Amino acid sequence: MIRRMIVLSVLLTATATSAADPEIPSLKRAFEGDFLVGTALNREQILGQEPAVLERVARQFNQVTAENAMKWEKIEPREGEFDWATADALVGFAERQGMQVAGHVLVWHQQTPAWVFEDADGAQASREQLLSRMREHIQAVVGRYKGRVRYWEVVNEALNEDGSLRRTPWLEGIGEDYIEKAFEFAHQADPEAVLYYNDFNLYKPAKRAGAVRLVQGLQEKGVAVGGIGMQAHYGMDHPARLGDFEASIEAFAALGLPVHITEMDISVLPMPGPEAEGADLDVDVEADQRLNPYAGGLPREVEERQASRYAAFFRILLAHRESVARVTFWGVDDGQSWKNNWPVRGRTDYPLLFGRDGQPKDAFYAIVRSSYSK
Ligand code: G3I
Repeated sequence: MIRRMIVLSVLLTATATSAADPEIPSLKRAFEGDFLVGTALNREQILGQEPAVLERVARQFNQVTAENAMKWEKIEPREGEFDWATADALVGFAERQGMQVAGHVLVWHQQTPAWVFEDADGAQASREQLLSRMREHIQAVVGRYKGRVRYWEVVNEALNEDGSLRRTPWLEGIGEDYIEKAFEFAHQADPEAVLYYNDFNLYKPAKRAGAVRLVQGLQEKGVAVGGIGMQAHYGMDHPARLGDFEASIEAFAALGLPVHITEMDISVLPMPGPEAEGADLDVDVEADQRLNPYAGGLPREVEERQASRYAAFFRILLAHRESVARVTFWGVDDGQSWKNNWPVRGRTDYPLLFGRDGQPKDAFYAIVRSSYSK
């Protein structure tokens, strides 16, 4: 109670202070004992090119994810040739700051170089070749950070919106057991790491049911699946019912697994259509200025509505804090967000907690305030 009163008084005087100012409340403190609070970092941030950002990250968060640096195309661009520089820097930063690292991502159909799926003649690689490349990649990456990267996102986005398995080159080349194989290889490489399945739009009932089937199948086979990641790329109107989001947390918790909110952001921009809800990178809509209404700045009323929406999600997350392991935002500030370029390129979005000036937005304070209700 006393702690909360102190936070409240700090909050009331905080609006005029700078981003690195110790008087701005800290998210990791606000949710201490509930769940980790994390952020994705891009390459420039990880390499220290924006020192003020790293300072803010260390004060605000206790978990970090590489936005791109641990993806296959970045870490093993050519077979057997690894580029560890950015990933090493991220893990080093996290260790110095006492933060947890979530490894993103081992097996995905995007951002994976073409050579992975091809044989020497450019034809489709055989099942054995694919399995061997998958094993070697996972052993190298998970093995390098054994005991240092606590969470690994083993398979990402394996499901269609109707809950069926997505036809990716992994599925086509290996078969349905590619998912359990990926978990097996990761478990062999670091038996202590927490391994999880990750996807977007898991609030949708059909996709939720698909994830439950998938994970239950893994559990029945004794595969070491240790959690489910919900990406949480949301908008002002989707999910339309927050009860769907809550029902998914409950369904995953009923499997005995913690939920990781892995990539949270709330876009304030109009969505061109339902296919743009989520994060399917194959969607690319032509630019149209009507879809970019806030290029000149974020209206107060919209900022306030976004803040209420963030707070509503956090009230649900807090109510289920026994089942929620962490909440990670997909970027530190609005300027760096992928949402400025997806599903329409060149827009000005405001999906995160800090503005382009590095200052905390209403959403930041609304989230901190939501922690008082514990
Ligand atoms: O690194 C190159 C740079 O050299 C080049 O000058 C520049 C020109 O476009 O592109 C840079 O690469 C971009 C990369 O981000 C780093 O900024 C790619 O074009 C761009 O496609 C890539 O986008 C990333 C996207 O995944 C695809 O990998 C986003 O930053 C990243 O936020 C996004 O994250 C995904 C998660 O991994 C999975 N879930 C969905 C989420 C959003 O799409």
